[in-house]
Amino acid sequence: MSATTPTRAGAPVRVAGLGVRLPDRVVTNDDLAKVLDTSDEWIRTRTGIRQRHVAAPGEATSDLAAAAATAALDDAGLTVADVTAIIVATTTPDHTIPGTAPLVAARLGSEAAAFDVNAACSGFIYGLRVAAGMSATGDGAVLVIGAETLTRVVDPTDRSVAVLFGDGAGAVVLVPDDTASFGPFSLGADGSEPSMLWTASGGTRRPVDAVVLEEGSHFLTMRGGDVYRNAVSRMAQGARTVLEEAGIGVEDVDLFVGHQANVRILDAVASRLGLPSERNHVAVDRHGNTSAASIPLALADARDQGRLHDGDTVLLAAFGAGLTWGAGLLTWKDTP
Ligand code: UT7
Repeated sequence: MSATTPTRAGAPVRVAGLGVRLPDRVVTNDDLAKVLDTSDEWIRTRTGIRQRHVAAPGEATSDLAAAAATAALDDAGLTVADVTAIIVATTTPDHTIPGTAPLVAARLGSEAAAFDVNAACSGFIYGLRVAAGMSATGDGAVLVIGAETLTRVVDPTDRSVAVLFGDGAGAVVLVPDDTASFGPFSLGADGSEPSMLWTASGGTRRPVDAVVLEEGSHFLTMRGGDVYRNAVSRMAQGARTVLEEAGIGVEDVDLFVGHQANVRILDAVASRLGLPSERNHVAVDRHGNTSAASIPLALADARDQGRLHDGDTVLLAAFGAGLTWGAGLLTWKDTP
């Protein structure tokens, strides 16, 4: 049922393949409670998280990304030779220079265009927006990978953040399809208060030196309550915008796959939208907050649970450091 007249259509593009890579090591809340002043009860009730995956020593973002991309290509029945561009959404690159995407491309055996998108936890939706445009306008198959090793930039002794994050990667292959629709998208950013969620040092503003290492300001810090409030309002705002632009109502949404930072944030967004909780997909309990990887990981999780059906309307929404936010609508198509 149409709620309003559509003002923007989606791109004629579908998800042809999905793939994931979660590190082998699983760290439970009880594991963390052995080394931090925290408890399974606090973490579960404040965040919904029960466990997270943690990369092995020496395992970097590109390792996870390449594995997820390979799985997505297999799932799509394509080879890397079919892909014209590889986009890696990450805020935890292997190196400051070069980007992570060229490393992933080389690992896959590709010399296609390869570049990173850093919009923190919103990065995957930003990457999808770029990829959908590319795929729909002549570039054919485009890989979008959300990949993170957040546990590397978090102070393991800081309980306010160490319990929240996990590592992982998820990838999709987008292909042109005249019968499909991906979008509209709504993206936004407000960089006026970056310290709400950031690593204060380690970039060009304040490079790492002995003082930085001593004070630990290269680690991620966050004003949790402020981030929480902004996450709820911006994700709901983005979701409303894309629904309005598509001319559909929340009753037309079959599944909401939001950025998996905190189950309370997902519940609050769903409640603001008037979306029944059974249409809100939750994977944060098993993955923790994997930033740009969280949406593709959750999407694959939803498919594994039989929650994605041909023709379903899937609402995506994310919020992250920057501040950045984004939302998009996907019509799910089963691979023919
Ligand atoms: O990915 C996008 C960005 N990230 C997010 O979207 C995260 C957004 N924020 C949140 O999810 C929540 O704000 C948190 C989960 C981070 C925190 O939940 P909260 O309900 O806002 O808790 P709080 O920060 O207000 O802390 C409450 C208490 C504090 O103690 P006092 O001052 O009340 O005595 C903290 O010191 O909980 C304490 N605390 C902890 N206790 C046990 C903080 N971390 C922990 C912990 N274990 N791990």
